[in-house]
Amino acid sequence: MKRIVILSLTLLVFAGLVMTGLAGCKAKEKAEESKLAVGIVLPTKDEPRWLQDETRFRDALGKAGYTVEILFSQGDPARERANVEALLAKGIKVIIICPHDGAAAAAAADEAKKAGASVISYDRLITGTKNVDYYVTFDSVTVGMEFGKYLVGKASGKGNNLYLYAGAATDNNAFLFFEGAWKVLQPKIADGTFVIRNSSEAVALSAKKDLDRAELGKIIGQVTTNWDFNVAKNLAEANLTSVGKPAKGKVFIAAPNDGTARAIADAFAADPDVKEYYISGQDAEKASVQYIIDGKQSMTVFKDVRTLVKDAISAAVTILEGKSPQASGAYDNGATKVPAIQSEVITVTKDNVKSALIESGYYSAGDFTGL
Ligand code: BGC
Repeated sequence: MKRIVILSLTLLVFAGLVMTGLAGCKAKEKAEESKLAVGIVLPTKDEPRWLQDETRFRDALGKAGYTVEILFSQGDPARERANVEALLAKGIKVIIICPHDGAAAAAAADEAKKAGASVISYDRLITGTKNVDYYVTFDSVTVGMEFGKYLVGKASGKGNNLYLYAGAATDNNAFLFFEGAWKVLQPKIADGTFVIRNSSEAVALSAKKDLDRAELGKIIGQVTTNWDFNVAKNLAEANLTSVGKPAKGKVFIAAPNDGTARAIADAFAADPDVKEYYISGQDAEKASVQYIIDGKQSMTVFKDVRTLVKDAISAAVTILEGKSPQASGAYDNGATKVPAIQSEVITVTKDNVKSALIESGYYSAGDFTGL
């Protein structure tokens, strides 16, 4: 009897050890697989926004024990495609791409699919192809609505000077931001609260609340910054040169992101006839947070890149496990409805800069002066 009990116990322990060993091997295999299986392609190193993403990816993946290859396309679709090809050649199974040009990136996505890899569109949507498996993004229409809400909240009376600026027409997000801003601003343009000073196309469409893509494209074509600080600065200066004194004084500026907001704000601040300005932005870039503390930029929309990175990594791991990542909605990219997960955004002004960005652990107080 005693011998039987001892034998059974020994067998149980042995079986346990084998199971643990197998599970360990599987986990190890999985980790090894994931270590080599994900590549990331980001649009440019020239904007702090994408350096934020790079840092957050490295932090998150480093903590999880994975190595990662992150390549930058430097605003060049050909380089973007070469980056994707280089990652595919290394046997990467999931590619996370934030396209420079959403339509041009379709070719890279098609190539990835042909090579048996899955494609996650990151922040910006890749358009015109079925070969996008998943999209992780922020609520970009809300970003634009936040610009509009902020400016409306600061305006009183009628005839307030409004200047509109947009991102690059090659970026689907630029349309979403503008669409959101327009939704909120248009009724206040129609009722005379605002007078548009720098876009005849926007003036021509000012009775229409919901603009289609072609209409949005017309306005964006006229007020695009191309996500470029110099283009933004030159455009703002040209706008200021072409308007008279009554279009200056107190002004309201819908700027599409932080980099362009700083450039546009500097141009307006340098004009002696501009006495007071309110300007939007997004990304909570450190330089813009400092501008907000210093009263040189009015607000930014904080998009917590840590969340986006976490969602992208968890989608990649789920795909590597052969499953489909959970989606909270879908985005039509012109060829298919791409399952998507969307993160919320937070508006930051001087009033909540500490709680939103410092107390949340996103930045440290030492990064800024005058907090
Ligand atoms: C991103 C913004 C960024 C802009 C310029 C957009 O697609 O969503 O966060 O500021 O591109 O790079």
